[in-house]
Amino acid sequence: MLRGRLITIEGLEGAGKSTSIDTIATQLNDHGVPFITTREPGGTDLGENVRKILLAHADIPMHAMTELLLMFAARVEHVDKIITPAIEAGRWVICDRFTDSSYAYQGGGRGLALEDIATLESILIPDIKPDYTLMLDVPVEEGLARAGRHSSLDRFEQEEVAFFERARQVFLKRSEAHDRFYVIDAAREVASVQEDIAQWIVSVIRETST
Ligand code: TMP
Repeated sequence: MLRGRLITIEGLEGAGKSTSIDTIATQLNDHGVPFITTREPGGTDLGENVRKILLAHADIPMHAMTELLLMFAARVEHVDKIITPAIEAGRWVICDRFTDSSYAYQGGGRGLALEDIATLESILIPDIKPDYTLMLDVPVEEGLARAGRHSSLDRFEQEEVAFFERARQVFLKRSEAHDRFYVIDAAREVASVQEDIAQWIVSVIRETST
């Protein structure tokens, strides 16, 4: 059986990941590609519990390395229980965020060394890399405005603009360094962004079936 593919969706808050995942799902359905959608942090029962700890805005600050290790703890479970089995069964996995978010947020945002994140990645999830990554790029202020300043901001949403600027720069640098990325200017009108995403995923489907 043909192995499935891991497609990850990255970008700052308010970049439009959910709408883009719907667009991708529609195209995969239309082309008869079996797939699952999932997210990080989360994706398993344990991972969703870890997500609650990570996003809760507790009064006690969390050490940046604790935050990184919790992201990876949830990820190891996710890869082991959900992602790898799905890919081996021939299904595509559409994952809302993956390790690139750790580089962007814990590396760029929190200032942890990117080499340390790379080391953890190579030790903890040595056998899996995204096949394709869609990076939805929006200017920080615009993304935050779109995400909405609702009353119950999570621990990340409470961060200042500079934190997200640093995260965005890491996303962009990684996009330049790895061919798997497709970067889209997501600040444009929604319909035209989604049209481009639909075209991109169709070209990915074609590329993998030749
Ligand atoms: P979401 O709201 O886009 O689902 O993501 C939850 C938050 O978790 C988001 O602010 C980004 C953050 N995050 C990290 O900081 N590092 C990671 O590795 C992942 C997967 C998410």
